[in-house]
Amino acid sequence: MTSIKSSIPSRRFDAVIVGAGGSGMRASLQLAQAGLNVAVLSKVFPTRSHTVAAQGGIGASLGNMSEDNWYWHMFDTVKGSDYLGDQDAIEFMCREAPKVVYELEHLGMPFDRNPDGTIYQRPFGGHTANFGEKPVQRACAAADRTGHAMLHTLYQRNVQARTHFFVEWMAIDIVRDADGDVVGVVALEMETGEVMVLEAKTTVFATGGAGRIWAASTNAFINTGDGMGMAARAGLPLEDMEFWQFHPTGVAGAGVLITEGVRGEGGILINSEGERFMERYAPTLKDLAPRDFISRSMDQEIKEGRGCGPKKDHVLLDLRHIGADTIRKRLPSILEIGHKFANVDATREPIPVVPTIHYQMGGIPTNIHGQVVAPKNGGQEIVRGLYAIGECACVSVHGANRLGTNSLLDLLVFGRAAGNHIVDSKLKEQHHKHLPADGADFALSRLAHLEASTGSERVQDVANDIRKTMQHYCSVFRTQELLDEGVKHITELDERRKHVSFKDKSKVFNTARVEALELDNLIETAKATIVSAAARKESRGAHAHRDHEKRDDENWMKHSLWFSEGNRLDYKPVVTKPLTVETFKPKARTF
Ligand code: FUM
Repeated sequence: MTSIKSSIPSRRFDAVIVGAGGSGMRASLQLAQAGLNVAVLSKVFPTRSHTVAAQGGIGASLGNMSEDNWYWHMFDTVKGSDYLGDQDAIEFMCREAPKVVYELEHLGMPFDRNPDGTIYQRPFGGHTANFGEKPVQRACAAADRTGHAMLHTLYQRNVQARTHFFVEWMAIDIVRDADGDVVGVVALEMETGEVMVLEAKTTVFATGGAGRIWAASTNAFINTGDGMGMAARAGLPLEDMEFWQFHPTGVAGAGVLITEGVRGEGGILINSEGERFMERYAPTLKDLAPRDFISRSMDQEIKEGRGCGPKKDHVLLDLRHIGADTIRKRLPSILEIGHKFANVDATREPIPVVPTIHYQMGGIPTNIHGQVVAPKNGGQEIVRGLYAIGECACVSVHGANRLGTNSLLDLLVFGRAAGNHIVDSKLKEQHHKHLPADGADFALSRLAHLEASTGSERVQDVANDIRKTMQHYCSVFRTQELLDEGVKHITELDERRKHVSFKDKSKVFNTARVEALELDNLIETAKATIVSAAARKESRGAHAHRDHEKRDDENWMKHSLWFSEGNRLDYKPVVTKPLTVETFKPKARTF
């Protein structure tokens, strides 16, 4: 048994936050401003975290453009989630939304403005007035660079509040004490390979999603499911991992996101016959129906031979009628992305698009304070010392399908809520718990295994095969045969993963070591996804099952909980009771 103190250096903080995206920096800001000693670890420079890629807006019922209220927002979110979202958490998020947006405005966020000075809001998919009657403008936008503006605002405020940033550091595993409480993380400095224990009274995972388990993805290359991997290896469950959102408009062949804000500003989807086909599928909301609905409709058009291009494998997003001036003012990045990734001038030509993996609705189970919860003796228990927020967490506000703009909202609401809860727990006055002597052994043994491995597998070959497998066997439409076959392939890849090695150790850069560590996280997330998907015998939200085409509320109104150990599943009920209002009862979803 190695002693942590004698084997590797350690540093102490009140709180360690893993991840510097929107949720991580919102939480760290709350903590640093309250005088806590906070460290934020990030694999990339904070303002390059994946939140920077969010384009369209933050959902909040400010009512700046026309009448709106949080209860309509709540209804849309529950319906959008295909009734799998927990209604207490959804009520909390939608009620908090205006407050967190105004706070961000006061922190200096450069929102677009209406002539009267209020924040500009655009329509987005699934957001309606009066319980589905007509689209409403709820997305608070900074052109089509909302995530970029938000991340820079939060970073600047964190610098001012003296948050400590560990830039280009990767967390490897959590450290738990004999009571199972989380007392910090073992982390690797990517440049030097130095390993350190970051001791913390509270550890917060804000590591983002795992969109890189797919071949075609709008996600950054850093999105390798690190928080989920660490949680799974520590014996914690992953919730609702079968639910992955395909964003309807990724640039065909490139995967780069084209914001739903394009359709919010009036853009439409057309097939090879020039038909605005969404009028057939969603007569009321048309191109602004929720994403699961639109992605399936696009896939259907392509399968029925009305796709565009020589291979008839995509549809077109037409924004020419919006007008060059509005496009340049409201959608400048889209113009640039059209040029660079599709070779089109979007003011004069439509952009070729396909449904592309964008977001995971599942993650590490938490309560509305961000505390991680795990099943115990038929109930739930809080994992002391560990929080999870943002895309790596499942609270669950998105259920089986997230509404556009509710992701940035989720980051702000739950980042802030976790920060407040930690401050209220009087962390400052608490002592650090004792670090167990063998606390870093697990992480160190993983590193040692990698160094010693003489296996014949190359990291990127296994990673690419995971991506190809997930893309083929677990796509927009799923069948039992495909899913069962996919489970077999991913299990084989898990075996291959154990035999990766660096061929020529004298030429190893730490990036190769980091990629190998990320591979362990990719495989945990891929296993969780495909095993949970193969088990769910219904269609709900983003899980569209050809052999079970209907939603089955009697048997499947429940959240899945996947455990890495034994590759096994458990379930827990959906919270249908909101905090203060009446339950929205499940209905057929039409738009
Ligand atoms: O389409 C978009 O701008 C993406 C927004 C979101 O995922 O919420």
